Amino acid sequence: MVQSNEIQSKLDNSRIPSHVAIIMDGNGRWAKQRGLDRSVGHQHGVDTVHTITESAIALGVKYLTLYAFSTENWNRPAAEVAALMALILNSMEESLFMKNNVRLLIIGDVERLPEEVRGPVLKLVERTAGNTGLTEIIALSYSSKWELTEVVRKIAREAIEGKCNPEAITEQDLDNHLATAGIPDPELLIRTGGEQRLSNFLLWQCAYSELYFCDTYWPDFSHEDFCKAIFDYQQRERRFGKTSEQIQQTT
Ligand code: FPP
Repeated sequence: MVQSNEIQSKLDNSRIPSHVAIIMDGNGRWAKQRGLDRSVGHQHGVDTVHTITESAIALGVKYLTLYAFSTENWNRPAAEVAALMALILNSMEESLFMKNNVRLLIIGDVERLPEEVRGPVLKLVERTAGNTGLTEIIALSYSSKWELTEVVRKIAREAIEGKCNPEAITEQDLDNHLATAGIPDPELLIRTGGEQRLSNFLLWQCAYSELYFCDTYWPDFSHEDFCKAIFDYQQRERRFGKTSEQIQQTT
């Protein structure tokens, strides 16, 4: 169970973001600071995944998307890729998902995953499909440019087959072809580890997300830090291109 804290008591429970996306950065630097192998940083990063999953459940977040492995991460040293794959596989315990009523979804180019990872992970997606609590979306072998290229391919095929008229394609049509089809866009995107960039993550979906960057390395990111990010989000005015006055009138 996550411990309640002062910042949590300041949250407006009627304005908890329904979807939070996280770029979990800083595992490597966390390990290096301690003279440890990068893989140890990733292992501690898994503990944080479990903590923040519980935290999201406790706060009433409905969708939590975690950037676990990007398309670009395939270019890391083979030993680190192998360690990450093993870790991802071993950390996805069915009993944890069931205990917490969490539904697992995977977004990304799963065809690139080794069969010994792809098989069990996709089986877990099937087994948790009926869970009705938090939806946890793990981005695995994912990048936005990969996803958007796939969308264009699918729509182009439909156009060639005469199933759609290119002139009539709408933003909603693109939404419907994304890996995240049916999932609301994240209201809040958090990146830990001090860098301030999106790294090819949910570029379409985050068009109007509030961005929150913090210096804390992912293995140190706590329930309290998560509450702080949500508190910061709640202080912002989301205008979606309108004026502040227009927003005030509708609230
Ligand atoms: C970025 O830190 C982190 C990753 C590339 C991997 C994140 C993966 C996990 C925490 C395991 C995920 C497991 C589950 C179950 C979702 P980095 O290595 O880029 O750190 P650095 O920027 O300090 O080098």
